[in-house]
Amino acid sequence: PLDFPADPFEVARTAAADIARLTGVERHDIAVTLGSGWGRAAELIGETVATIPATEVTGFSKPALAGHVGTLRSVRTEDGRHVLVIGARTHYYEGHGVRRVVHSVRTAAATGAKTMVLTNGAGGLKRSWEPGQPVLISDQLNLTSDTPLEGATFIDMTDLYSPRLRELARTVDATLDEGVYTQLRGPQYETPAEVRMVGAVGGDIVGMSTALEAIAARQAGMEILGFSLITNLAAGISPTPLSHEEVIEAGKNAEERISRLLADVIGRIR
Ligand code: 6GU
Repeated sequence: PLDFPADPFEVARTAAADIARLTGVERHDIAVTLGSGWGRAAELIGETVATIPATEVTGFSKPALAGHVGTLRSVRTEDGRHVLVIGARTHYYEGHGVRRVVHSVRTAAATGAKTMVLTNGAGGLKRSWEPGQPVLISDQLNLTSDTPLEGATFIDMTDLYSPRLRELARTVDATLDEGVYTQLRGPQYETPAEVRMVGAVGGDIVGMSTALEAIAARQAGMEILGFSLITNLAAGISPTPLSHEEVIEAGKNAEERISRLLADVIGRIR
């Protein structure tokens, strides 16, 4: 089977062909990656045409974490559009390299998807935010020191998160706040000093995914929408130490409400 020593775009085309064969759906219109807390959206977007274990698709690795579902689904919306629901994120901190991290995004592009919706669970820096609150991503800081781009690939990063789609999301929920997403390598959460650093350079949200994926989606020419579920306030802002269990619990409590929001927004994307 193809793996990542091969051209990553060729691996993605092979993966897209696997998806077409396993789902019976030749092309997808929209792709969405479901981060922690967003999993229920898969059932709310529309009718599931097919569910496939990610391990049956070229280049996808096994899920590393509980709370991260390792499946890909093809979902058909009420008006007949095909949504590829990706429940199988590979995190940068797993150490398999950035090609594997962005493989799902490149595969989504290869299935024909013109829109990439990226969701995650993350820490918040704004004291006004409550755990369980969804926020729009307005821009990003990639603090991983890595990139999915290889060689002299100079691409513009203005309006990375589509102003048009952010506005559309606000037609569904006018109260949605937004913030600058900051990807750090992890897997440790930030120290209070690191959180102050992120705040000083303009970050509002801290997490361990999404930014590298958004770069790959921009390279592929996709229109990008990003949502973070604020699962907790970041270290030094939160009154209590952080725990993975707390993050998963906040996700579970908010899941129904935010998944409905996400499904409604996806239903309106044209
Ligand atoms: Cl506080 N930091 C990072 N990097 N990721 C998180 C988080 C914090 N809370 C949930 N995910």
